[in-house]
Amino acid sequence: MITAILPAGGSGERAGFSENKILRPLNGLPVLSYSLSAFSEEADELLIPCRKEDEAAIQKLLAPYPHARTVKGGATREESVFNALIEAKGDIVLVHDAARPFVSKNIIRNCIESVKQYGSGVCSLPATDTTVLARDGCIAAVPPRDIVFTVQTPQGFYTDALRTAFYRADAAGTLSSFTDESGLFAQYVAPPRLFSGEKGNKKLTYAEDFAPFERVGFGVDTHAFGKAQPFITLAGVKIPSTSGLVAHSDGDVLVHAVMDALLSAAGLRDIGYYFPDTDERFANADSMQLLKEVMRLLKERGLAPKNVSVSVLAERPRLSPYIEEMKKGLAAALALSPSEVGIAAGTNEKLGYVGEGRGITVYAAALLKAN
Ligand code: CTP
Ligand code: MG
Repeated sequence: MITAILPAGGSGERAGFSENKILRPLNGLPVLSYSLSAFSEEADELLIPCRKEDEAAIQKLLAPYPHARTVKGGATREESVFNALIEAKGDIVLVHDAARPFVSKNIIRNCIESVKQYGSGVCSLPATDTTVLARDGCIAAVPPRDIVFTVQTPQGFYTDALRTAFYRADAAGTLSSFTDESGLFAQYVAPPRLFSGEKGNKKLTYAEDFAPFERVGFGVDTHAFGKAQPFITLAGVKIPSTSGLVAHSDGDVLVHAVMDALLSAAGLRDIGYYFPDTDERFANADSMQLLKEVMRLLKERGLAPKNVSVSVLAERPRLSPYIEEMKKGLAAALALSPSEVGIAAGTNEKLGYVGEGRGITVYAAALLKAN
């Protein structure tokens, strides 16, 4: 029988969110849910040490897993693990940081295999950077890189052996000086066996670690010529034209396509939903102002544009003299640099409504990053 311990008893201080980082949504799901799901099939029992104030929220996440329950957290990670270890019923125990959501099934299976074969299994990676030992701000020693590894979780052991290590550390008063089980096991029982981890199995520590996901979105808009006006507005730039674009707003078809791409990437509704043309507030609206509102909606969800790519199909007017100014204005509105905004313009070779000069269609793609 296998017990998985997912320590979740920290406060996520370095991440600096208002809630514990393990409850923070990551692409729509709380961080802890990922490791719960990954371990739920491999383990017969799941123990989650946590703080009193997080217990109710965590218990909700445990609902789909009848073999999972919370345990009292401790003041340090090792105290949290110790509390769970005492209650573990499995003969093998796997300890995995709740803050490492990207653990793969393969890693979990390799960990269990290593325990069965060698009595322990510690997920680790060879160091890719040179590592040094430093004292007083100076390099004191340079260990050869081929013997340096970084250690991740999961870390698996026979439960009795790991308990022995913990009891010994507890008796020696050293429990809280260890940052994980491998160090403790090495000190009090035997050198643990390493197995190969994955680069993707990262621990989320700082707020920026929560930005591994990018989201793509696509938007299209079309407006017809026909307004008695000597210009059209594209990306906020007024471009001389024999007639303007018919619209409830200022007819900035380019900004409309970009807004739809941004909203779509965020999984939100479209511009017609947020800025209905039946609403008098949006009569002759400056689309660049509406774009500000879209940026606010993204920010509320912890998202921001990473880059935007636009393609304008227009038989007339000639746009190339205005592209640089359009790029600049659009980039500023998106809090991007002009090199992160692409605007291409072309004709439709006289084909269809665009080719006949009856309207303009704009396609836009947007990539969002966590903000
Ligand atoms: N942990 C725990 N009990 C503690 C401290 C940490 O169970 N007293 C858990 C965390 O919830 C996390 C894992 O150990 O899943 C790794 O710790 P860390 O990344 O340091 O998380 P926090 O301690 O929450 O973050 P911080 O150190 O920034 O406050
Ligand atoms: Mg910590």
